[in-house]
Amino acid sequence: MQENGKIWRDVQGNVLHAHGGCILFAEGYYWWYGENRLGNRYVSVYRSKDLENWEFRNDILTTESKTEPIRQKTDLTLKRENGKVNIERPKVLFCEKTGKYVLWAHYENGENYLDARICIATCDTPDGDFTYHGSFNPYGYMSRDCTLFRDDDGRTYFLSASRDNADLHVYLLTDDLLNVKKHINTLWQGEYREAPAVFKKNGKYYILSSYCTGWRPNQGAWAVGDSMDGEFTELCNFGDETTFHSQPAFVLPVEKNGETKYIYYGDRWCYKGDELTVAEDFGDSMSYYIRSTYIVLPIRFTAEDEPYIEYEDRFKDGI
Ligand code: GAL
Repeated sequence: MQENGKIWRDVQGNVLHAHGGCILFAEGYYWWYGENRLGNRYVSVYRSKDLENWEFRNDILTTESKTEPIRQKTDLTLKRENGKVNIERPKVLFCEKTGKYVLWAHYENGENYLDARICIATCDTPDGDFTYHGSFNPYGYMSRDCTLFRDDDGRTYFLSASRDNADLHVYLLTDDLLNVKKHINTLWQGEYREAPAVFKKNGKYYILSSYCTGWRPNQGAWAVGDSMDGEFTELCNFGDETTFHSQPAFVLPVEKNGETKYIYYGDRWCYKGDELTVAEDFGDSMSYYIRSTYIVLPIRFTAEDEPYIEYEDRFKDGI
């Protein structure tokens, strides 16, 4: 049984590296995509029938991935002379129009965080070798921590931190999910929101996010709005002052007995042995990253539909 804040392992017994990721339900399985910084890897995928036992399937994006431009002037760089680039917060959706699995992520050059770009890759199957289509700045904007959200009317939105993370942008995507079509919203100017995660309940759109403190956890927040291009409420506290020592990765809606449950998946980036700690205590960024783990909690709602989480060592409701 996977426990919150402990190292998670796949069914083969290896440490499960799917940080900052997402879970997609397709072809009868849950597919968990996420960051894996080991060796030449960028994004790995695992699959499960029960959200508990995860089978490693593939490193879908690596320094050696096939590259293929899809428009003019996208930058196809996937490695540097002395190392790797950074590919963070990968999110994958299936595109009905093209029959492709499409990955969007945050791209940086590996030396600093100044490129602040989106990168895209696609594949015909959920766990095949993805083809990399390059990185770009949407309409010239900076684009860092990000997420994808597929609405029930078929529209897809991309959210990302812009203007050095000060504002959160919302974009509508083209139907083939290969580009942004319109910049439709700019939220919480000057509030420095990161790690966005979106879900929809009773026709309303909820956005979870963190404040901007690098790998250190901080107070999470939620907000709600009637449409992705409309007004959202102010930020309301979510979890405790460190969001139980985690940062939002994504929210998974799961149907159970005719009811939709919403599950919070957070990254606990900074973990050393059995002790919670901060990134700075490690000295070496790879070792704390490798020991990063996950926090999975049911999102509960007040009578006014305000979301909240309470810490549990284990998500005991079952799925
Ligand atoms: C965090 C962000 C992570 C990663 C990290 C690097 O704030 O959420 O995805 O970019 O900063 O310091």
